[in-house]
Amino acid sequence: MATRQHWSTRLAFILAASGSAVGLGNLWKFPYITGTYGGGAFVLVYLVCTAIIGFPVLISEIFIGQKAQTNVVKAFEENHRRYSPWRIAGWMGLLSGFLILSFYSVVGGWVLDFLLRAILNQFAGHSGAEIETYLESLFSNAWRIIIWHFIFMALTITIVAKGLNKGLERLNNLLMPSLSVILLFLLVYSFFLPGFGRAVGFMFVPDITKLGVEGILQAVGHAFFTLSLGMGVMVTYGSYLSENESLPRVAGNVTVLNTLIALIAGIVIFSIVFSYGGEPAKGPTLMFQTLPVLFSQMPGGYLVAIAFFLLAGFAALTSAVSLLEVVVTYWEETHRKSRVGTALICGVTVALLGVLCALSFNLLSGFKIGGLTFFDLFDTLTAQLLLPLGGALISLFFGWVLGSQAVKVITGKPITNLFSQVLLWTTRAIAPLFILVMLVYKIMQG
Ligand code: PFF
Repeated sequence: MATRQHWSTRLAFILAASGSAVGLGNLWKFPYITGTYGGGAFVLVYLVCTAIIGFPVLISEIFIGQKAQTNVVKAFEENHRRYSPWRIAGWMGLLSGFLILSFYSVVGGWVLDFLLRAILNQFAGHSGAEIETYLESLFSNAWRIIIWHFIFMALTITIVAKGLNKGLERLNNLLMPSLSVILLFLLVYSFFLPGFGRAVGFMFVPDITKLGVEGILQAVGHAFFTLSLGMGVMVTYGSYLSENESLPRVAGNVTVLNTLIALIAGIVIFSIVFSYGGEPAKGPTLMFQTLPVLFSQMPGGYLVAIAFFLLAGFAALTSAVSLLEVVVTYWEETHRKSRVGTALICGVTVALLGVLCALSFNLLSGFKIGGLTFFDLFDTLTAQLLLPLGGALISLFFGWVLGSQAVKVITGKPITNLFSQVLLWTTRAIAPLFILVMLVYKIMQG
């Protein structure tokens, strides 16, 4: 086994961690749940959750990894003791990694399919009704959806097989700045659209009536998902960080970047929606049905559509590699196997598992477990159970096992300092409590 690699620079870490955080969660999920829960009020709760739960848990995860300099399971042993029961959080992370990547990659495949359609100019000159059938025709074609999923997985495996510096770091160094440029271009474009003002109002003027408890819980869950928390991505990425980096600073950068990108994506998407008579509360099909129809109606829509799906593809890929990296590093370090072989074995396993998700829209659409197709099952199981539970365990481990000692190292201030206290008690109590309430509520709802 080769010696452990490290990020070449602090910026490389920030780009990679932001690359993991910024993904389909920001471009696809955040806008549609914001639309569903009425806009501003949801955004506000999401921002609060990000600040008081997401940010402290992000610091804890990076710290656990940085301190241990090893994979997500062993990290708990290194920070605690051999056979520490807390390593169950690491195993849960591995399981989540497999499950999330298997459906995430299917959606990544849809993005590639739509990118190709955008490049082939299949939106302009076509009727809205026709464009709306594109997603259904993709769903009903089992081969097409599987092949795109395989292509997406092949890209992910190739990057991870190349290793940390030549694979993940290079990818993020290239894609994250490109992603930001494309997003800024789209922001400038949307500024000149008639619906821009309404979009900003929709996102930032709270309308409490549509929020409800459900909206609040979605905001908590999304704060975890969007920062890639609760499954060891940040533990693993933190383990490649040298020990003298200031964590509040790097975690702060990642949190701010991720939030900014989600907000800008929201403004862009809602500006388009409001300018061309779309429906903000359209749900999951917002990105794949509503937007393409609107692209076909707007000036410069050909370029905007390509820019948009390219952006989504970049975002999805930089998140997917982080998911595979968690599993591959673990396997590579525990079984002392080569990176290429491990990336292939783990990646192909995920790809095969993902076939079940791809078939959930066609051949296996009638096959349900607990009323859910494989795709929905993997999504629900991870986003609503494994990630929050993993996040709570990691947070409790940090707050109670590592406790004041770790907090003092991180903040560089005495434990009586306000920030130290906030960090200690959010990880000890506030974050786990929020999660507990969310889980109990979900269970009661059935
Ligand atoms: N944060 C990613 C997104 O918002 O799309 C998704 C994700 C990546 C979740 C990695 C969890 C994870 F471990």
